[in-house]
Amino acid sequence: MPAGRTTQMRVLHVASECYPLIKTGGLADVVGALPGALAQVGVSARVFLPNYPMVAKAVTSARAAMKVADLFGGPASVLKARGPDGLTLYLLDAPHLFDRPGNPYLGPDGKDWSDNPLRFAALAKMAARFAANPAGNWRPDIVHAHDWQAALVPAYLRAAKIPKRRQAMPRTVMTIHNMAFQGLMPAKDRAVLGLPAAMFTDSGMEYYGQVSFLKAGLVYADHLTTVSPTYARETRTEEFGMGLHGVLRERADAYTGILNGVDINVWDPETDPLIAAPYSRARRAGKARNKAALQTAFGLPQNKRAPLFAVVSRLTEQKGLDLLLDVLPMIADRGGQLAVLGSGDARLEAGFRAAAKARPDHVGVQIGYDEPLSHLIQAGSDILLVPSRFEPCGLTQLYALRYGTVPLVARTGGLADTVIDANDAALATGTATGIQFAPVTVEALAFALERAFDLVADARVWRKLTSRAMAHPVSWGKSAEVYGALYRDLAAAPTATQPDSSLPERK
Ligand code: ADP
Ligand code: GLC
Repeated sequence: MPAGRTTQMRVLHVASECYPLIKTGGLADVVGALPGALAQVGVSARVFLPNYPMVAKAVTSARAAMKVADLFGGPASVLKARGPDGLTLYLLDAPHLFDRPGNPYLGPDGKDWSDNPLRFAALAKMAARFAANPAGNWRPDIVHAHDWQAALVPAYLRAAKIPKRRQAMPRTVMTIHNMAFQGLMPAKDRAVLGLPAAMFTDSGMEYYGQVSFLKAGLVYADHLTTVSPTYARETRTEEFGMGLHGVLRERADAYTGILNGVDINVWDPETDPLIAAPYSRARRAGKARNKAALQTAFGLPQNKRAPLFAVVSRLTEQKGLDLLLDVLPMIADRGGQLAVLGSGDARLEAGFRAAAKARPDHVGVQIGYDEPLSHLIQAGSDILLVPSRFEPCGLTQLYALRYGTVPLVARTGGLADTVIDANDAALATGTATGIQFAPVTVEALAFALERAFDLVADARVWRKLTSRAMAHPVSWGKSAEVYGALYRDLAAAPTATQPDSSLPERK
């Protein structure tokens, strides 16, 4: 803990996912890793999460810390529990909303649950209530809401009554992990939220005739962050702002980009129990064994010399993988191999399945979600492909760097901020860590792949490139310090987050 501070800053993270308890993407990795990293800089962080069945099974010593008789149609309680690695969790136990197996957002038909807005309004409402009046003696200084699922927290806190004892209300931080998901609710349903009518205006949470949870977070949080400096700039433009760029421009003074880091205990080729053989920057021999294991896992010929490209991704429009389908013949014709792990859009799943069928010696595909296999891919492949149309941060390219796998990425968002392109200047100075391309078109991707084939063919250059990639700092260290400083500034600010006097007080 830095000198001169007697009390530890307390932060309550509110989110819909947290690795290793429940995960569909990078949000879970961040929420799972950040508390541990914050502890290193003198911040005590806890996580508020729905008590999904998978979570309930994985935690220990759960006991009720708060109860309400009715939360949107059923009884609910907040359970205090212990997660893996000793993380303290508060779990919203509301069986009518969260006792549903599998994916946190999708029903058995693969579509969003129709009551998702209500489910996550419930998460935010209880988190806000709990944060303002926590049972026990752990009162958060800051409530940190992640993505649309938690974005009503600042609105509920803003609308709350000032507590009798007049302690300061917690300050709020809202982090955007992805602007594409906003949490929209028909305006006619808004009364159920129990928020003041004054909030449902254009300067509040109204969004083209609907209620936008994300917009509520952007308007009512004390400070906004997103997960890379470039995405912070991009989201203020019409092209990337998904209709909310105006709000972000207005709040530019309170909006910063802070890069995600990697949980270096989970993602470490020297100790990773999920890969075929350990290796490190100094002793790299094990990487070849991982390549062989990966080729076997994907039914590809065990060929040491074939450049092995890989994808670990949600298969969605965001990720630009439709472009990869177009350039696949070129990878195969140049003697490359491709291993794809992902799930999502039916059209993309079918496209990759068909490609594997057409060129089985060059393309291997596993449709689904498989955490252990995602580690083997990072360890065993030569080049990780991330051709995203937009990418707030991206974590897979950071894992690739750490595993000595060269990321080939679109020059956008966090990809632009974390990968140094192997242009002649960067190669000459030994600073290159990967390959970038722009714009996100088939032609530019094909050109980048050509560059990858040329680079990998030169063993000396490739060794230097991968060595530099492995040396690139990807831990949470620096970003955790930036969050810590932000929390302290907010907690010290005299006027932040007092309940909005222009809003009628709720009874
Ligand atoms: P996003 O959050 O947009 O999906 P990120 O790159 O930030 O993208 O994070 C994705 C996370 O999800 C990474 O930890 C990645 O390894 C993991 N992941 C994505 N798809 C799969 C999959 N099919 N199987 C296993 N892990 C996956
Ligand atoms: C989102 C983004 C991804 C980011 C992750 C964690 O899912 O799509 O770019 O890395 O959140 O912040």
